[in-house]
Amino acid sequence: MLSIKSLQSGYGEMQVLFGVNLEIKPNEIAVLIGPNGAGKSTVLKSIFNLIDIYDGSIFFDKKNITRFPSHELIKLGIGYVPQGRQVFGSLTVRENLEMGGFLIKDRPYLDERVEHVLQYHFPELKNKLGDYAFSLSGGQQQMLAIGRALMQKPKLLLLDEPSLGLAPKIMKGLFRKIKEINDEGVTIIMVEQNARQATKIADKIFVLEDGKVALSGNKSLLKSKKIQHIYLGGH
Ligand SMILES: Nc1ncnc2c1ncn2[C@@H]1O[C@H](COP(=O)(O)OP(=O)(O)OP(=O)(O)O)[C@@H](O)[C@H]1O
Ligand SMILES: [Mg+2]
Repeated sequence: MLSIKSLQSGYGEMQVLFGVNLEIKPNEIAVLIGPNGAGKSTVLKSIFNLIDIYDGSIFFDKKNITRFPSHELIKLGIGYVPQGRQVFGSLTVRENLEMGGFLIKDRPYLDERVEHVLQYHFPELKNKLGDYAFSLSGGQQQMLAIGRALMQKPKLLLLDEPSLGLAPKIMKGLFRKIKEINDEGVTIIMVEQNARQATKIADKIFVLEDGKVALSGNKSLLKSKKIQHIYLGGH
């Protein structure tokens, strides 16, 4: 589904990733964990072509998509939810969702997508369609940000720290939603600080350190003492 090979990227002169390799199969949930500044967000931004890629390649459904413009990636079926939510506060919930469907020119179909996203994924936003996004709670804003990315029916969804700043109960609910979206056939790559919760729904885990994948594996990786100790704060 997605394959990243020897990726080197960064911000102008500032190289952040030094040869990242990732392999994600259809329908998996892959979680990227690692310390602050390790380059987790930079991996997602590289896929979505928001930064400078110096070397390496990214394949999506066997197609080389390295440095494809973001709107082309959206058309191919990649959705991106940036770190810190970034919904448009001064737009309504409906307007935010419609922004997510900006490539859809057919008005009835756009309305149908809004309806679908609300009905199947985020019914709690249904009676808030006319509310400004800034008036929503943190959890609702995150749902809206994900809902916006779902408007184009992505096959692959990139989520950067969806649980950031959310209370534990809200966070659990959000991870449940993410799992539901995955169950409908959407492959997910998620960056998470909350490793313990996130890895409960993960099929695969990548640990990033200093711009490289230091460790990767399936759920059993989490049982390793080193991972438990460093990333899950437990024993
Ligand atoms: N816009 C930018 N311009 C220059 N350097 C940046 C920019 N964004 C991030 N960096 C640098 O790139 C490195 C990796 O950042 P990145 O955001 O990928 O880390 P991260 O693993 O997502 O960390 P966090 O857990 O804090 O979100 C850091 O040293 C950071 O300072
Ligand atoms: Mg980050």
